[in-house]
Amino acid sequence: MTSTEFSTTVATSTANSAFIPAPATAYQEDIARYWDHEARPVNLRLGDVDGLYHHHYGIGDIDHAALGGAEGGTYEKKLIAELHRLESAQAELLLDHLGPVERGDTLVDAGCGRGGSMVMAHQRFGCRVEGVTLSAKQADFANQRARELGIEDHVRARVCNMLDMPFAAGQAAASWNNESSMYVDLHDLFAEHSRILATGGRYVTITGCWNPRYGQPSKWVSQINAHFECNIHSRREYLRAMADNRLVPQAVIDLTQATLPYWELRATSSLVTGIEEAFISSYKDGSFQYLLIAADRI
Ligand SMILES: C[S@@+](CC[C@H](N)C(=O)[O-])C[C@H]1O[C@@H](n2cnc3c(N)ncnc32)[C@H](O)[C@@H]1O
Repeated sequence: MTSTEFSTTVATSTANSAFIPAPATAYQEDIARYWDHEARPVNLRLGDVDGLYHHHYGIGDIDHAALGGAEGGTYEKKLIAELHRLESAQAELLLDHLGPVERGDTLVDAGCGRGGSMVMAHQRFGCRVEGVTLSAKQADFANQRARELGIEDHVRARVCNMLDMPFAAGQAAASWNNESSMYVDLHDLFAEHSRILATGGRYVTITGCWNPRYGQPSKWVSQINAHFECNIHSRREYLRAMADNRLVPQAVIDLTQATLPYWELRATSSLVTGIEEAFISSYKDGSFQYLLIAADRI
């Protein structure tokens, strides 16, 4: 797609988005406010490492050689770079599961935050990436980063409710939620992804979910919900809501063990937010899981 074609689509979509009320509920207003005011060092200082700003967690083993000893004056800087590397590795894994993506395709990042995953998707596939977030501050931040990188004709964030996205039926070759599905009803969410995805398109989520084998949400899960003002769903709810909305899981990957090193390293840093114990304890007692689910839109 040429940039002129893209501009035409942008103009049309912007006109459409004027009709989309966002946020749609008092709860969504609270969430918009939360993310408008969010400026934790754990997000911003990690993003400063290479300009990819994430609001999600990391996966993979710690590179102890890169960290070096805790005694040196540069340790904190190395630790931040290491946590950031693990967060980008998480996004890379999500992109690995989008299936074949062509340069002319459109991808949708639902709950895009400050846009780190969108930039990575464009850099990998060369395609257009549309993001939606409830937070005007986040959308402005993501668009500013896209301008700085000179990719604003391919990467764009908008303030919009992901349950009511300004995209035509079948417009997206692939779409995803990276740690953003715990803010909405899953049936509503997957119905909307199913609508915007082309038949045969791919949906991917990486999310924390409570484990039905544990029985009910544990005290740790309740603590995480209160901390982030969200509503963590169970693994069972994800699979049921997907099945009800023409999304057929192609891969379900348990990333719980892969994310623990990130949390244990983060808990030793000056960037702690106070929620580290809840994540580590619930991952260890089996009440909470970190999952990737990739599904085909049939
Ligand atoms: C934990 S952040 C994840 C950000 C991003 N996906 C990432 O990986 O960096 C959650 C995001 O979900 C967004 N969000 C929550 N509910 C939403 C809704 N109903 N519509 C659009 N975005 C929503 C928030 O605005 C925020 O950007």
